[in-house]
Amino acid sequence: MTSMTFKGMDIVSIRDLTIDQIEQVLDLSEKMMPYATGEKKCKALDGKILANLFFEPSTRTRLSFESAMSRAGGKCIEITLPQTSSTVKGETLADTIRMVEAYSDAIVLRHPHEGASRLAAHFSSKPVINAGDGAGQHPTQTLLDLFTIKQQLGGISGKNVVLVGDLKYGRTVHSLAEALAMFGAELTFVAPPLLQMPNETAKLLESEGVKARLCSNLEDVIADADVLYVTRIQKERFPDLSEYEKVAGCYRIDNILLREAKKSLVIMHPLPRVDEIAPEVDMTENAKYFQQAFNGVPVRMALLTMILGGF
Ligand code: CP
Repeated sequence: MTSMTFKGMDIVSIRDLTIDQIEQVLDLSEKMMPYATGEKKCKALDGKILANLFFEPSTRTRLSFESAMSRAGGKCIEITLPQTSSTVKGETLADTIRMVEAYSDAIVLRHPHEGASRLAAHFSSKPVINAGDGAGQHPTQTLLDLFTIKQQLGGISGKNVVLVGDLKYGRTVHSLAEALAMFGAELTFVAPPLLQMPNETAKLLESEGVKARLCSNLEDVIADADVLYVTRIQKERFPDLSEYEKVAGCYRIDNILLREAKKSLVIMHPLPRVDEIAPEVDMTENAKYFQQAFNGVPVRMALLTMILGGF
């Protein structure tokens, strides 16, 4: 398979990519490192325009797509304040997409509704990249998560990855769990019963022969973890705030907990964090979440150049 098979592809779900294609993105991401830091110059996307449409707040995803596009010689146009777009006049997402595709070469969409990127891909002849659709998926976050695990541990297969926090509403863990299963990682899901991994994801994994360990007590599993992937409780997605209050602050990673962990434990978080990782952990060798956030630049450079035909 050559990288040309990427040209023009939509990336809505992590399952839009085969394991070979994911490996190609990760390999190219490694090569993009000196370009992502600005150490070397890259013109792979000279003349290309990326439309960033963000109908939900974002720091990392939006800015790392922008940075990736600039570092590769391309440009971005954007909607980042939906109230300044014609959405407020009642324009549908389908019509917005039909206009934006005429102004750009690819569209990145973050939207509060699950399925919005699939709909956008249906109406766009240009590639659509899902930057998070409600509690659905966040496939480019998954690519940078996989890249970070490989970078830190040398591989993914056989590693025990503990996903902890809001596994119900957290979209990053939905796409990551599916990808980790494809790569043969061992999965442990730690959440209060109210926030466990949705049945459809758990069933999908089981149908592929992956049986995740489920529990609610992090202390019971921390000693065996190779990767601890921490997530924020997604307050904004709770239909009933009294339910949120019941689980707010239920996990907190601190140096006392880490005494039980392997010395080589890799702690990741898609960020933003609220209170689930104590600031004291930032100073440990285990904390890799800021490196993980930076990795969004080389990984998105790699993906964009492959989709837009720069490589
Ligand atoms: N990880 C992530 O999606 O962060 P942002 O919401 O800041 O984009």
